[in-house]
Amino acid sequence: MFKKTAAAILLSFPLYAVPMAAHSAAGPVVAHGTTPTMGSVLTDGAGKTLYVLLSDSKNADEQKAALAACDKACQDKFIPVATTGRPLGLAVIPGFLGSVKGASGAEQATFRGWPLYTFADDTAKGQVNGQGFKQAAYVISPVGEVNRAAPKAVARAGAAVAKKPVDTALMPIGQEKYAATCAGCHGANGQGAFGAALAGFARLGEDDAFIKQILIGSGDMPGFAGAMDDREIAAVATYARNSWGNEFGGITPEQVKALR
Ligand code: HEC
Repeated sequence: MFKKTAAAILLSFPLYAVPMAAHSAAGPVVAHGTTPTMGSVLTDGAGKTLYVLLSDSKNADEQKAALAACDKACQDKFIPVATTGRPLGLAVIPGFLGSVKGASGAEQATFRGWPLYTFADDTAKGQVNGQGFKQAAYVISPVGEVNRAAPKAVARAGAAVAKKPVDTALMPIGQEKYAATCAGCHGANGQGAFGAALAGFARLGEDDAFIKQILIGSGDMPGFAGAMDDREIAAVATYARNSWGNEFGGITPEQVKALR
């Protein structure tokens, strides 16, 4: 009977509960959301990412470490998701939802036992600025697993605006240099071999990191600072950033020079 009620709430919910949530005595909404950098997370009814604090952990060692990391100022940034009774869920397992009296004595929403918080510096949907905050705050997956991964680098929507124009004269030079220098390890079409796949690799969008990778190398990749001049390195970088479906904009010889 209990289950039936929860299912009925879940089914009827999408129609009207979001506008209702702010005022409803039924409590806040805990929903399944998606972020560009962390994948699936829990969000509140407005789409803001929800976090758990390791200081709420049952594990004594973890709690001690987290309390030290997430001091009073840190905890001020994490706002408990207030509720009265069990919160409403949207596309999450209702049985995982609950509530607890938080540190302040106020009732707070929980998911699989973890008290939930929003982060003061998240100002829009999809943001995860609280992730890893003082190594104490983390997002939680829709099945209740604490996700401590670092946010993935993404080709931001804004990058399309900031992206530098491609100097088309560099493309054939880059193509030749790529074939002669990089293709052996990264594949003729950037598909990856001994080295990482460069097709669809978001990190190529980070200008300085990519230029330095070519200049200095890392791990089993040699650097090419001595083998290529600024224009050749700009050309190979521009070619890799704008081939095989990549569209990360140009790199100029001046940018390379500045990083030598
Ligand atoms: C001898 C083989 C080899 C050659 C030649 C080579 N790479 Fe690499 N590359 C690698 C390996 C191995 C890695 C992984 C390095 C690591 O683990 O630090 C790598 C990593 C990279 C990365 C990823 C760095 C990151 O952020 O993780 C980029 C970008 C890259 N190479 C670009 C190039 C370009 C462009 C060229 C040609 C100028 C080139 N590589 C030539 C082997 C090579």
